[in-house]
Amino acid sequence: ARITLRQLLDAAAERSYGVPAFNVNNMEQALAIMEAARATNAPVIIQASRGARAYAGDIMFAKMMEALELMYPEIPLCIHQDHGERVSTCLSAIQNGFSSVMMDGSLMEDGKSPATYDYNVAITSEVARLAHMVGASVEGELGCLGSLETGHGEAEDGHGFEGKLDRASLLTDPEEAQRFVAATKVDALAVAIGTSHGAYKFTKKPTSDVLAIDRIREIHEKIPNTHLVMHGSSSVPEEYRNLFNANGGEMRETYGVPVEEIVRGIKFGVRKVNIDTDLRLAATAEFRRVANKNKSEFDPRKFLKPAMDAMSKVCRDRFEAFGCAGQA
Ligand code: G3H
Ligand code: 13P
Ligand code: ZN
Repeated sequence: ARITLRQLLDAAAERSYGVPAFNVNNMEQALAIMEAARATNAPVIIQASRGARAYAGDIMFAKMMEALELMYPEIPLCIHQDHGERVSTCLSAIQNGFSSVMMDGSLMEDGKSPATYDYNVAITSEVARLAHMVGASVEGELGCLGSLETGHGEAEDGHGFEGKLDRASLLTDPEEAQRFVAATKVDALAVAIGTSHGAYKFTKKPTSDVLAIDRIREIHEKIPNTHLVMHGSSSVPEEYRNLFNANGGEMRETYGVPVEEIVRGIKFGVRKVNIDTDLRLAATAEFRRVANKNKSEFDPRKFLKPAMDAMSKVCRDRFEAFGCAGQA
């Protein structure tokens, strides 16, 4: 059954667990997530980026979500727009059945330069006003995602601000978060604590100077009724990087957000944990393994089925680690 982000995360807050929000572009990812949710009895957040909507097409994506509801009626399902960059993106998502939208006003409309506080408040409160009228939830973002190791905004996957930022811009300020939430009325807030999107987050296992999990506690104290969201939360498991590289892939040494750090974040108030890279990596590592092992294989299903199984395993692990298994 489809539910809003507010409903789903209110339940998570009540019992102090976190919910992974997995990015989806196609049927295989969607089925892998739902199979894992069924196996662990977990509630689900599926999110689509603008790129995902363009890739699948809005009609295909909407009908795929309807199919999931029919196939998995027992699983609470929130369909969320990831990183909406303008009002129209959020509204067209709602028109297509999304029960929740992110208005990412952390960057100006070009998607490259850091937004002013006033711009972010204006555009996010407009989306919140409109979305709430029709019963959809809203996530905002305050602070710039990026690396506390290098001082750069994230750049790896081509979106976000790439230039040098001071440490303060790369960390969400708790008092500003309080003002932002009061002004915008968002249901959830994405915070900047040193994580970034993509595979290349940290050059070594992150320590507290580059991954500011403690900052979450300070923000949560100021806005206890706003659900905190961690973006860039893939763990980039070494196991999958090795499998990818052993079969002809080239991924240099890199570290993601360790699962135990996310679990600490959940203790401090994180409720939504965004994961895209880990499912991408698990799937493509499996493609490479199959292609390498059986060079005459050309039935896509022979690649896609093991890829689905690998993605499903990652999902099960996260549902269990975040305490959301058994909560559907
Ligand atoms: O925001 C980042 C997500 O990983 C989505 O990425 O824009 O390539 O679909 P994408
Ligand atoms: P990862 O690239 O770490 O999976 O982050 C995904 C994300 O934050 C989507 O909004
Ligand atoms: Zn994100």
